[in-house]
Amino acid sequence: MNPAMDAAELERVRAPLDRAWTLPPRAYTDPAVFAAEKVRVFQGGWVCVARTDQLARDGDYRCVDLLDQPIVVVRGRDGMIRALSRVCLHRAMPVAQGAGNASRFVCPYHHWTYELDGRLRSAPMMRGVADFDPARCRLPELRVAIWQGFVLVNADRQAPPPAAALAGLDPYLANYRLDELVTVDTQTFDSPWNWKILVENFMEAYHHIGTHRHTLEPLYPARESYVVDNHGAPWALLRMPGRPGDDHAGALPPFPGLTDAQRRELIAGCVFPSLLFAATGSTVVWYQLEPTAHDRMQLQIHLLVRPEVAAALDGAARALLRQTVRAVHLEDIAANEGPWRGLHAPLTGQGRLSLYEKAIWQLNRCWAEALAD
Ligand code: FES
Ligand SMILES: [Fe+2]
Repeated sequence: MNPAMDAAELERVRAPLDRAWTLPPRAYTDPAVFAAEKVRVFQGGWVCVARTDQLARDGDYRCVDLLDQPIVVVRGRDGMIRALSRVCLHRAMPVAQGAGNASRFVCPYHHWTYELDGRLRSAPMMRGVADFDPARCRLPELRVAIWQGFVLVNADRQAPPPAAALAGLDPYLANYRLDELVTVDTQTFDSPWNWKILVENFMEAYHHIGTHRHTLEPLYPARESYVVDNHGAPWALLRMPGRPGDDHAGALPPFPGLTDAQRRELIAGCVFPSLLFAATGSTVVWYQLEPTAHDRMQLQIHLLVRPEVAAALDGAARALLRQTVRAVHLEDIAANEGPWRGLHAPLTGQGRLSLYEKAIWQLNRCWAEALAD
């Protein structure tokens, strides 16, 4: 077992659902566990860093911090999306910041210049330096896989591509045609608590009867929710049927190709460890998590719609959508902050899971697997 984790506690996490317990408090509050997660969960896992529509044109780029590794995700002149270390090969300055469109990356420190595929194009005033050939220098590259329009990266060169592991999830998503959607809004939240608290909150509808009693519960009753079997694969899918007769697609036209039930349904998906998305009949939100420590992450909530809907959205409609997403998250913030405090209390231990929290159990098993020796 990992030295930071207790074998008996992990056994309770991995028990069958009706006997399972939550992760022990230390899994959230101990910096040593986060240090182990960096290596065992994140470095070998597929982490979502962008949507393809955010990198639509050649030269479009976005900077992301993959834990300690600053990267830039960029579409090259050849149309390929790559994930490169954005740490300069000279003296480690970041060569790009934020997001935008570039023809090449110029390090602001001494103007070493990199092509969009990471090759070093020029390095001024380096004549006379022995055994230095710019043509042989290149920013290190991470592996990239595109799944459902999400750009996933993996720091482990040996990791198998994610498509096979996620194949069981694809049929549930096919009608939504997620790969065609475009991003119309992003909201950023500094979130000073452990990242897993947010993932767990996202992946159960049990809390609709408490946290979202007046907002989501009337639309998507907790008692109707269920989680599909993942057969041990690294994903979870929570389904929250809407009330028959209600049309929750709202003011926007529903996604073409959905069944009547899907138009009324809310679904929430997780690709282990940290890709979270949820779909109504007409909108999708994608939660982009960037954990920075055991006690903090940066959260971006992106809103996605069909391209033709995006083209027709006026300012008022956009603001209303933004407000709706925000209102639900503000309710969830309380459901993140409370447990974060509670998990630090000396008398707090593992808790029992409801059968409605099956997705948490599935993801906890992936986590325990990754953390076990
Ligand atoms: S650190 Fe980038 S050019 Fe010197
Ligand atoms: Fe919630």
